[in-house]
Amino acid sequence: MALSTSTLYQHLLLFLLIIVHQSPPCSAAGGGSWSLLVQNAGISAMHMQLLPNDHVVMFDRTDSGISNISLPKGKCLPDSNDCSAHSVEYDVATQMVRPLFVRTDTWCSSGSLTPDGNLVQTGGSGDGFKVVRVYKSCGTCDWRELPGGLAEGRWYATNHILPDRRQIVIGGRQMFNYEFFPKMSPTEKAYDMPFLAQTNDPNENNLYPFVFQYYDGNLFLFANNRAILFDYSKNKVVKTYPTMPGGHPRNYPSSGSAVLLPLRIKNGVVEAYDVLVCGGAEKVSFGNALNGKFDDALDTCGRIRVSDPNPQWVMETMPMGRVMGDMVLLGNGHVLIINGAAKGVAGWDLGRDPVLHPVIYRPNDKVGTQFEVQNPSMIPRMYHSTAVLLRDGHVLVAGSNPHQKYEFATPLYPTELRIESFSPDYLDRSASRLRPKITKANLVMRYGKPVDISFMITGPMDPKMVMVTMVAPPFNTHSFSMNQRLLVLDHREPVKGARKNRYTIGVTAPPSGNIAPAGYYMVFVVYKDIPSPGIWAKIE
Ligand SMILES: *[C@@H]1O[C@H](CO)[C@@H](O)[C@H](O)[C@H]1NC(C)=O
Repeated sequence: MALSTSTLYQHLLLFLLIIVHQSPPCSAAGGGSWSLLVQNAGISAMHMQLLPNDHVVMFDRTDSGISNISLPKGKCLPDSNDCSAHSVEYDVATQMVRPLFVRTDTWCSSGSLTPDGNLVQTGGSGDGFKVVRVYKSCGTCDWRELPGGLAEGRWYATNHILPDRRQIVIGGRQMFNYEFFPKMSPTEKAYDMPFLAQTNDPNENNLYPFVFQYYDGNLFLFANNRAILFDYSKNKVVKTYPTMPGGHPRNYPSSGSAVLLPLRIKNGVVEAYDVLVCGGAEKVSFGNALNGKFDDALDTCGRIRVSDPNPQWVMETMPMGRVMGDMVLLGNGHVLIINGAAKGVAGWDLGRDPVLHPVIYRPNDKVGTQFEVQNPSMIPRMYHSTAVLLRDGHVLVAGSNPHQKYEFATPLYPTELRIESFSPDYLDRSASRLRPKITKANLVMRYGKPVDISFMITGPMDPKMVMVTMVAPPFNTHSFSMNQRLLVLDHREPVKGARKNRYTIGVTAPPSGNIAPAGYYMVFVVYKDIPSPGIWAKIE
């Protein structure tokens, strides 16, 4: 195939950019590919949530000016000449966006999918500080807003869905407390959480705390540089973990990211519970960035086995430093580290040197061989960018607006309206003979009960190499994916079906809501690290 001069030039330019811009990746170069899905989504997706109908709700904030997509005729923000939308619904199948009408400010807010598959979003700024908003997708539906839905204003808080179907909303700027939604009674207030005050340094560095439901019902909470196990029902710290070696901050504005590594269930028990925290910035980096000095981001990750009697951080080094990255669990249990910058911190215009290469981390590989650098995007994804796994195995990447307003013409990291997808190499055509295909449309699971999943593989099949995973679709914003978890289900060896290339694998649903909070999950049959396209399952 002949390359045109302009394509050649682009390739050359990209090549030079990579050489000049990126320190050479020191581990094996991996694959993966990028495609541009939408040129103009209308808004910059600061927050994203995948819904169980394969639509993605995106929203930014209502006070950054006129976006690039109009509200339906006659609708405008209250007391404003802004008749543009600040939220859209993206349909994965058609790649169409539909404007949604959010009235109050959702800036730097948080949220969670409910067990019914609706999005509950909490807080924001200004008139949106105490608002709870519900989005139920139906084709023509729109946001419903509940003013005063929160007891306290929440800006930069973290939510998690609980086994009893409520969600907990933790922290926020100068909010050293937590509350629940919905409330047990109309007068229920917020509860103090001194840990948030203790980890709040002069640059904050503990916002959007990393929160994970632990399998004993408590919450694992990481803020700044350390972690606790927390019993929210008794408002009690159950355990304190060591400070991460180095003592560097990992939460906003020194935004690293964190993920609960895959939970493998055997005979109703989780084998190990590991949390991985990667990237961030040094304590001085925020102050330096304000003065125009952009320090290198942290290139370290800390991994802790929370389920050990005496847990310790094990430090690992990434192929490159990263701040404002996102960590996405893929269907095969690998972790994609994507988006962000090599220098500076989170905040308006405080990041430099976009990291265009994602990195894959394989949790079960030997230390030293776990990271693999992937092919780069061309689009910087700086502050306010997002990434979520789709059911088909692609990763949707959007957002990036490090500016106070929509700025489409500024030379440095203009407001980004483009939506891309990253395709890990398991989607390569060369993997098609190994790629399972589930032959059911969806599943219902009951805690601890067996369920059969039938699938096809066209190539020869080694039954020892099959596993089944389920992934909760998280709420992603500000480098953290709330509710993100992946379970590796206990299973029996797959058996051959009557028809060619057909198999059935018997799995056991997760034992409880502590391990898998009720609601929707994407289920994948994985063969030799290659996940099938997922199907939606509901567990209750
Ligand atoms: C904004 O929308 C207009 C009209 O659809 C389009 O021509 C323009 O390129 C968009 N701007 C950006 C930055 O995408």
